[in-house]
Amino acid sequence: MFNNIYEGKKVFLTGHTGFKGSWLALWLTSLGAKVYGYSLAPNTEPSMFNELKIGEKITKSVFGDILDEEKLNKIINDIQPDIVFHLAAQPLVRLSYAEPVMTYKTNVIGSLNVLEAARHCTSVKAFVNVTTDKCYENKEINRGYREDEPMGGYDMYSSSKGCVEILSSSFRRSFLQEDGTMAMATARAGNVIGGGDWALDRLIPDCVRSINQGIDIEIRNPIAVRPWQHVLEPLSGYLLLGQKLLEEGKKYADGFNFGPNEDSVLTVAEVSQMVCDFYGKGKVIVGEKSPLHEAGLLMLNIEKAERVLGWTPTLTARQAIQNTIEWYKHFYSNDVDIYEFTMNQIKSYEEDITWNKSYAIK
Ligand SMILES: NC(=O)c1ccc[n+]([C@@H]2O[C@H](COP(=O)([O-])OP(=O)(O)OC[C@H]3O[C@@H](n4cnc5c(N)ncnc54)[C@H](O)[C@@H]3O)[C@@H](O)[C@H]2O)c1
Repeated sequence: MFNNIYEGKKVFLTGHTGFKGSWLALWLTSLGAKVYGYSLAPNTEPSMFNELKIGEKITKSVFGDILDEEKLNKIINDIQPDIVFHLAAQPLVRLSYAEPVMTYKTNVIGSLNVLEAARHCTSVKAFVNVTTDKCYENKEINRGYREDEPMGGYDMYSSSKGCVEILSSSFRRSFLQEDGTMAMATARAGNVIGGGDWALDRLIPDCVRSINQGIDIEIRNPIAVRPWQHVLEPLSGYLLLGQKLLEEGKKYADGFNFGPNEDSVLTVAEVSQMVCDFYGKGKVIVGEKSPLHEAGLLMLNIEKAERVLGWTPTLTARQAIQNTIEWYKHFYSNDVDIYEFTMNQIKSYEEDITWNKSYAIK
């Protein structure tokens, strides 16, 4: 996988205690990378990080704040990583209404701190900066957004990530033009599902929590349509992008969308019902509509990732939901070693990938 580029590489990963970061930490270790994680301690109970003892599986795990410039600079300089994957963020839309300043500090200033620390550490050759599909100005249009469309965001989370995109583009033009400077790309993906997510206000974790508490699943907006993808889908895109940046540098230093196929769009009601079907229990009821602004459908156009990187999605939304529910069922019934099960999901996903056999344009 990934041309064996990660074998023996030192990877600095922010957000390794979170949902996507935990999966990425495990995938990178299985690819032979030395993973150094830097994040706040996990903030959900349970958390994938604690349940799978990820701190013990990677080379080094440090609990630290990306707003602590001194600590961040010191640790990057001590490690001398080859590549940075920056995933640490405040990623919740609803929390961004309650905590707008913290959201902006973490996402915008925090990202700038990580970029600055990496820029001054000459061992860093590549930087994958994870933003979101919500960075685009959502005009409620009926097609996917292309990478060159305007940034925006209705709520504070989305706009903070739009800011990170603008900041990254400016950072690249200001500091990363010369030979020998790191190649930095941004990666935009949308609603991600998978085992091990216990964040609040996300549909599948909410459904799983209700099922395990024996209460009805209350959904706020049953007809809202969203694209759904398994967590390994964007992670495969980040890893492929990281590979290209390490191998060929600035040619790939740009923004890339990693979204699902168009047929992965399902309503909230459809997804919650599928969760119950795969779980074999649970009941969905429609609750009061949220007073907060709900964005309409936002799709990504993924032609650039297909054409330039040779990346395509692997799983349908149905398969993604099935894999996710299998994970939670095993976790709650405690009938398998959940770490082994997670590693097997990564292996079987690798086997399902077809795009590594095709060639992107040079
Ligand atoms: N989950 C999704 O559906 C989704 C969709 C699009 C984009 N993303 C992006 O992917 C990335 C990871 O998201 P996730 O779903 O794993 O979120 P998560 O909340 O599970 O993890 C966030 C991580 O960031 C760390 N973090 C937060 N504030 C920090 C700080 N000040 N200093 C150091 N670390 C800090 C947390 O400790 C945690 O490790 C984020 O950048 C997010 O915006 C997620």
